Amino acid sequence: MKKETTYLWWQTGVVYQIYPRSYQDSNQDGLGDLAGIIQRLDYLSGTLGVDAIWLSPFYPSPMADFGYDVADYENVDPMFGSLEDFDRLVAEAHRRNLRLIIDFVPNHTSDQHPWFLESRSSRDNPKRDWYFWRDAKPDGSLPNNWLSLFGGKAWEYDEKTRQYYLHIFLKEQPDLNWRNPEVKAAMLGALRFWMERGVDGFRLDVAHFIMKDPELRDNPPNPDIANAEFTAGEYPSQLHIHDIAHPDVHKVFREIRQLLDSYSQDQPRYSVGEIHLFDWKEWAKYYGEKLDELHMPFNFAFIRRTPWNPKAIRAVVEEIEKAVPPGAWPNYVMGNHDEPRLASRFGKEQVRVAAMLLLTLRGTPTLYQGDELGMENVEIPLDKQKDPFGLRVPGSGRDLCRTPMQWTGAENAGFSSAGVETWLPVSPKYKAENVAVELQDPSSVLNLYRRLLALRKTTPALNRGSYRTTGETTDECLSFIREAEGRTILITLNFTGKEVLPHTAMSGKGDILLSTRLDLTGTVSLNTLALRPHEGLILELEA
Ligand code: GLC
Repeated sequence: MKKETTYLWWQTGVVYQIYPRSYQDSNQDGLGDLAGIIQRLDYLSGTLGVDAIWLSPFYPSPMADFGYDVADYENVDPMFGSLEDFDRLVAEAHRRNLRLIIDFVPNHTSDQHPWFLESRSSRDNPKRDWYFWRDAKPDGSLPNNWLSLFGGKAWEYDEKTRQYYLHIFLKEQPDLNWRNPEVKAAMLGALRFWMERGVDGFRLDVAHFIMKDPELRDNPPNPDIANAEFTAGEYPSQLHIHDIAHPDVHKVFREIRQLLDSYSQDQPRYSVGEIHLFDWKEWAKYYGEKLDELHMPFNFAFIRRTPWNPKAIRAVVEEIEKAVPPGAWPNYVMGNHDEPRLASRFGKEQVRVAAMLLLTLRGTPTLYQGDELGMENVEIPLDKQKDPFGLRVPGSGRDLCRTPMQWTGAENAGFSSAGVETWLPVSPKYKAENVAVELQDPSSVLNLYRRLLALRKTTPALNRGSYRTTGETTDECLSFIREAEGRTILITLNFTGKEVLPHTAMSGKGDILLSTRLDLTGTVSLNTLALRPHEGLILELEA
């Protein structure tokens, strides 16, 4: 008898990222919080229809990097609430069949974490080796040439003990030494802590940064700066071969996976790593040789990497299809709390095509809050900018995608009450772009997301079926087929502002399941099918 393949929630489901500071303010301090997120769970599971939420950090933190500088891995910052609120969030999410993924920040702590305070207190403190402390070179220069991704050098001098410590991000984010077994044990302990509280998975922040060259050798210069992922500031001037992604990282991920697996008997747990790699062979290694590392490395192909045109997109999707090892699962993401908004990158009209592409490819999609409204970047005046990256390296600011979620047309968009000063200004467009208004408008971007999510959920071909490109990929159109359980779905996307013939190489008839314009139904003949400007269609082919 043929064994039925079973699919897990993180394979067939859709993940939605919440940036807790900016989702819902329940106590009118201008900052979002866990109780606010609980208020919005019905929106997430019912109205929108996602399957899992990923929360950016809510841990106690001095907020030098808005929570990615953790001062206690096993608690909730009072500005977000308490552990009781967290437990309530887990219970309320699970009650609605929503899974909860939390951000885990393994590469660095806050400089205010008790571990670092101890470590910096003296050269012979037992936690000294939990971080990277080094003398200056004999000529007085820095221990090596490494740079901070957030600008400047990666070493900070500490007067008290007259040594430098390493920080690949801000000086308030000292790097942890994962080669020290006590560090590893403490960090795995934190993962246990949250799994015991019921979380379904983790997103590992800058996951492959945790293992560095054991000798901390200098990075060589980068001969191809123009092609670097991050192009601003000094960071791209080097090839980052010694400061990140030492192959020993794979062993750590195997241990993390074993730990997750040991908690997965009744509740399958999940891990996704923030791994900015674009050599797909190298990238795929993070699934593990025996699929025993991360459940997935995030696939950032659609962020910064792939030009928004059908040929480039087809090429990258086919590369991913080839690179993902047998038995492993692909994933796609277009936006997050570090990146400009989709609508600003692809254009107001193409944002619908982007939504249809993301939600019809094979693999788990991750959405970022507000993108379902078609939000654009919000320009923040310099005196109101908060992001330390943007303030240090002009052009790298991330405030533009972190503004408060827009729920209604009321002052402060229903995020905070009227009169409250929100931590970042609300987008000036909130009156036209908010959940309440878009729910009323049958052709809104929000309603497109809702339809796409519902269709994906109820159509095995879309949530688990095979992928193949079909027809001619022109400069205008991309078409592909998803198939499962005897059903064949054709997706065809127009990337231009003109009416085009998609050349799908399919004949016969197709039933329109969805147009990005939300205005079409009925049966069409595939030979004569035309797409309107910026239109995408999902069709079911007649058997
Ligand atoms: C990741 C996070 C980003 C953070 C950085 C340092 O890239 O996504 O927001 O600033 O790591 O933790």
